[in-house]
Amino acid sequence: MKVATILSALASVASAKILFAGVAESSGEFGLWSPDATPGTGLPGTFGKDYSFIDEKTVDIFVDEHKVNLFRVAFALERMCPLETGLGATFDEEHFGHYKDAIDYITVTKGASLCLTPFSPVNRRHPRPPQLHALQRPSQQPMTGSVIGNTTDTTAATTEQFAEFWAELAGRFKDNERVMFGIMNEPHDMPTKLVFDNNQAAVDAIRGAGATNLILVPGGQWSGGHSWTESWGGDLLPNSDFMHKIEDPENNFVLDVHEYLDEDYSGTHSECVNGYPEHLAELTAWLKENDLKAMITEFGGSNTTACETLLDEALGYMEDNDVFVGWTAWAAGPFWGPNSACCTDQRQLGSLEPGSTAADGSPGLYETLWKKVFVPRIPETLQWEGPVVINEA
Ligand SMILES: *[C@@H]1O[C@H](CO)[C@@H](O)[C@H](O)[C@H]1NC(C)=O
Ligand SMILES: *[C@@H]1O[C@H](CO)[C@@H](O)[C@H](O)[C@H]1NC(C)=O
Repeated sequence: MKVATILSALASVASAKILFAGVAESSGEFGLWSPDATPGTGLPGTFGKDYSFIDEKTVDIFVDEHKVNLFRVAFALERMCPLETGLGATFDEEHFGHYKDAIDYITVTKGASLCLTPFSPVNRRHPRPPQLHALQRPSQQPMTGSVIGNTTDTTAATTEQFAEFWAELAGRFKDNERVMFGIMNEPHDMPTKLVFDNNQAAVDAIRGAGATNLILVPGGQWSGGHSWTESWGGDLLPNSDFMHKIEDPENNFVLDVHEYLDEDYSGTHSECVNGYPEHLAELTAWLKENDLKAMITEFGGSNTTACETLLDEALGYMEDNDVFVGWTAWAAGPFWGPNSACCTDQRQLGSLEPGSTAADGSPGLYETLWKKVFVPRIPETLQWEGPVVINEA
């Protein structure tokens, strides 16, 4: 072990601070186009045409110029596990190969960390209201589907199949210490107990495969930070009733939280109104009480004055509260074009992808938001080497 490696590994345990910062790379879940929104139609799509993962040249800019060390790279669960075989250990190897190329580029070539996260519009219900599809993703997505682990739905994939999927994926990356496992993007409209059970099954499967990598554990109801301790009625019980009960033999997991700043926390509106100090106070207290840490893996805004102010405050809030150890802004990605990844009331202001421009040719959110607000807040304390060990032993 090099001295620097030992120091950084020790530092990551001894002092809590922002160790990982960067962007979501969103495009791998694009192009699940369906002419009539029938679940499963539009799959699997063609790599490089319907979807992609990263542009190596823009990853270079993020790492070499902005010194970010975390990318959250989306993939569609229904592409990794073909519909013919369903959720489980059988992968579409061609699709996996393209994904692995992106992972290797980020982690091996560039030495940054990467959180791999399945998005699942079909098996788990799509996370966003319909009007957002055109905005979030340039093409239509199937809207309905079964919930993983719903035992009263004979068409639903089971929690055991979800575990088989995770055992297979984790086994393939267990020797790459720059890889983190994000269990699922934004589970919602399913009992919080079931979100917990699926999470625990994934944790057991990952550890069972011999992987000690950091795991990101999502909450129900879109993993929203502001409502982490609230009930949404019925069996949509508070995440705070469940997620601290995750049992991990490695004790190497963080909570995966999303927190947009617009009026309904959806990340669709241009104006930022909900600041972190007020809206994350309860989550922060719960994390402290339970000796847990979190990363905010989706947040962002538009280029308004209020968003600049509240996003800067949000980044400062995470720096000041040591329960937060990382963040990724939503979103960069090679396939956005002038479409906006976040928070623009469907105006096409571009994305966080370097070189992005708005529909009218003016600078995109990369220039007007990322470089202006996020880049000055990228911590100098980020961890580049050594195993990722967040919690004290
Ligand atoms: C589970 O499946 C049943 C039968 O299809 C359905 O009525 C119910 O709404 C599903 N539960 C969830 C959480 O989707
Ligand atoms: C936001 O960016 C767009 C595209 O560059 C630009 O037209 C608009 O004037 C900017 N808005 C503000 C408030 O700066």
